[in-house]
Amino acid sequence: MDQRDEFWWRHGIFYQVYPPSFQDSDADGVGDIRGIIDRLPYLLQLGVDALWLSPIFPSPMADFGYDIADYTGIDPLFGTMEDFDALISAAHASGLKVILDLVPNHTSDQHPWFAESRSSRDNPKRDWYIWRDPLPDGGVPNNWLSEFGGSAWEHDATTGQYYYHAFLAQQPDLNWRNPAVREAIYDVMRFWLRKGVDGFRVDVIWHLIKDAEFRDNPPNPHFREGRPPHERILTQYSTDQPEVHDVIAQMRRVTDEFEARILIGEIYLPLHRLVAYYGNDLGGAQMPFNFALLSTLWSARSIETIIADYERALPAGAWPNWVLGNHDRPRVASRVGPDQARVAAMLLLTLRGTPTLYYGDEIGMHQVAIAPDQVRDPFEKNVPGLGVGRDGCRTPMQWSAADNAGFSTATPWLPVPDDFIHENVVNLEADARSILSLYRALIKLRKELPQLVSGDYLPIAAEGDLLLYRRQSEGKAVVIALNLGAEPVSMASDAAGLDGEILLSTFLDRQGEKIEGVLDLRGNEGAIIAK
Ligand code: NOJ
Ligand code: MG
Repeated sequence: MDQRDEFWWRHGIFYQVYPPSFQDSDADGVGDIRGIIDRLPYLLQLGVDALWLSPIFPSPMADFGYDIADYTGIDPLFGTMEDFDALISAAHASGLKVILDLVPNHTSDQHPWFAESRSSRDNPKRDWYIWRDPLPDGGVPNNWLSEFGGSAWEHDATTGQYYYHAFLAQQPDLNWRNPAVREAIYDVMRFWLRKGVDGFRVDVIWHLIKDAEFRDNPPNPHFREGRPPHERILTQYSTDQPEVHDVIAQMRRVTDEFEARILIGEIYLPLHRLVAYYGNDLGGAQMPFNFALLSTLWSARSIETIIADYERALPAGAWPNWVLGNHDRPRVASRVGPDQARVAAMLLLTLRGTPTLYYGDEIGMHQVAIAPDQVRDPFEKNVPGLGVGRDGCRTPMQWSAADNAGFSTATPWLPVPDDFIHENVVNLEADARSILSLYRALIKLRKELPQLVSGDYLPIAAEGDLLLYRRQSEGKAVVIALNLGAEPVSMASDAAGLDGEILLSTFLDRQGEKIEGVLDLRGNEGAIIAK
């Protein structure tokens, strides 16, 4: 890809690597940077354009790297700075971009900034974090809850105040109202941008600014038993505050000091609020992650509605994006089932907007059952029994039928499931009709057909389990027909404008078939039809 292309991220395909689970190179059972370098040929053959690495910085790993103790180092578990530089060079030499995870909302409680901040009330870094007095009865300052269970306030005996943590007590929130904090993180960004990283995925970006008065959050009238306890209250005052957009605009100015970089925001909000994160005059995040497909009911009508709502909500000039999986949500193959996972792949790679793939989804990896004594995720440990654990979507990449799925010669930090014997890259590469072959074919097609990248999205009226749309640019069109159900469907194709030639079926067995008058789809089949 042309390194000077400012808008590379519009036509690129992103791939999230979860470093602890991608490839181990030093036999400690944990993936590492050298392992990623070893697997670049695989990623190139898959056809993706940009890698986003979850955190690789020095960390006590209370939240597997999302608790950072040094923003400008590399954790020895993952390698060295030399390894990182080698990864950037190797990736760039093959035209791959590298995106780092920026975690500015909170640090580790082991970060030197926090050690200073908690040491005394008059330490110059006191105001780098969020400290509040106890209520007169000694209680917590307000009703805000940690996403990982319990109050979001931790009492600190040294100074007799509480500090705020939206996640673990080992992840104290930085005070983003303090300009010194902002400058410190902007310098962190410049450090990595100078090293050549192509941008950042910014962790919980909608959390950065909290209500100046720390007002109590209202109760959630829609709370359902069985859901995690933090959902009992809304986050009206603890997240998504108007001033956050000034911060994001500043961050964007930092990435814009360098050529062709991207700012991606992690944001779980309803679509109408999400799109505000593009910023005024689009000076915010170029890609506020669109997670709508992660939580939707998997039905044709629901998905059609989401696409329409999103397309309608996008501000002028905003570029869309779509995500099917990540390290916090159950695997797509388990959410929708293995048969629909192929339809989901075709959806992701034919929608208008940049797709982000999650490692292992391209080989159909499912949610892996984790025995109680193998649980690593602090969310599951703090809030057990509700099925919130994230370990099951973070298991080692299944490369081959070798021991530990070819991931490591040592016992991996999380288990591999028994079916890795069949469900692995080597095996699926040899099978011309595997889900991996489907992903490769879809990615190839997306690169060959400009209408799939930059064409308009035009819905076609459909009923039942059928989802139909057209992607069209400069008079060239393809039609996508997806059967979201398990039963076959048949429809008149001439009037609906579906006649043409099948370029790809999710079963990989109908290429070249002419559609004239009737389109038949098998259960769980999707097809791309050239007009
Ligand atoms: C979002 C990350 O994706 C998740 O893994 C992490 O636990 C929280 N942010 C806290 O950093
Ligand atoms: Mg290792």
